[in-house]
Amino acid sequence: MKTVYFDHVATTPVDPRVLEAMLPFFSEHYGNPSELHRLGREARAAVDAARAQVASVLGAGEKEIVFTSGGTESDTLALAGSLARYQPGHLIVSAIEHPAVMEAARALNRQGWDVDFVPVDGDGVVDLDAYEQAFRDDTRLASIMFANNVIGTVQPVAELARIAHEKGALFHTDAVQAVGSLPVDVDELGVDLLSLSGHKLYGPKGVGALYVRRGTRLQPVIDGGGQERRLRSGTENVPGIVGLGVAITLAAEQLPEVGPRLESMRDRLMDGVLERVPEVTLLGHRTQRLPGNAAFSVRYIEGESMLLQMDAQGFMVSSGSACASGSLEPSHVVLALGLGAEDAHGSIRVSLGRENTVEEVDAFLEAFPPVVDKLRQMSPLYVKG
Ligand SMILES: Cc1ncc(COP(=O)(O)O)c(C=O)c1O
Repeated sequence: MKTVYFDHVATTPVDPRVLEAMLPFFSEHYGNPSELHRLGREARAAVDAARAQVASVLGAGEKEIVFTSGGTESDTLALAGSLARYQPGHLIVSAIEHPAVMEAARALNRQGWDVDFVPVDGDGVVDLDAYEQAFRDDTRLASIMFANNVIGTVQPVAELARIAHEKGALFHTDAVQAVGSLPVDVDELGVDLLSLSGHKLYGPKGVGALYVRRGTRLQPVIDGGGQERRLRSGTENVPGIVGLGVAITLAAEQLPEVGPRLESMRDRLMDGVLERVPEVTLLGHRTQRLPGNAAFSVRYIEGESMLLQMDAQGFMVSSGSACASGSLEPSHVVLALGLGAEDAHGSIRVSLGRENTVEEVDAFLEAFPPVVDKLRQMSPLYVKG
């Protein structure tokens, strides 16, 4: 059976060119970048070259890039690191953040920080009035994600950053789903801090970066040997960092071709599902969304059952209802859109990537409606109208 991978929001395969660039740094060029001998200098040069690649794609300076172990660490460093020098005050995040930001905010809350979770509208766009009104005199930071991993909605980041600055607060965005899929320029956005992750953009897992605007004061959350300008101690993940540099460069080069192609396949998939399956709701904004992300709530049935049935037919998709693997709690993101728990349980996410084809989308559109039909026949909630 041919299998089709439609779960690129969860992770992407490593591009063969990325893997090829990484391999020598496991075996030949294995030096520690902190050492002064030849192997050490080679590794240092490779880390510096990757830093220049990441900075160039984001329109940032090289000194503004800190390598981390991934999106989660970047988010933690952004929130905990930027607030460490203040007395506990107030911080703003959206109601639909990834757990990496949600839990970092909750940890700060346990240390005495007040946290406001600003609501979103039915399309998942942050309510600008509520956001603006949430600021207080002691608001130090607002952290609003660039693009949502469950529903795909893209936020007006430049506007959100402008408002935060007007109110005297720093602005962080979790751009883990955006970098590689959308143009991201830190100066156009005006953000102070921005998180990204390698494995969402055809790079390796376990490596990421935090953009830190010059002049933004940050304290490390991991202390030790003082690597990464003292902001992130620990011997650098040289192969991973090299991979991230190549992956982000390739993604940026291909974006003008891949972006529109993904959007057109995504729209074909969204329109196809909405036409062919009754009682389905599109999750997230119709157009202001990640180019490869389609998400739906299918009434009367469970996301997990759809996922497993589609998997049996060779399609790997995700259910939006699990906010952490193995959890059967409805997603806080889908609930924040105003859907009831029952509808939130029936969510499914199909996320396309650059190796997918229109034929695969069409094959999905053939396979999906009978699966829904079959599951509904078995569902006690379903009464055929
Ligand atoms: C929006 C968002 N933020 C953060 C993360 C965490 O990134 P990582 O897996 O690199 O820790 C993810 C990954 O699912 C994500 O989608």
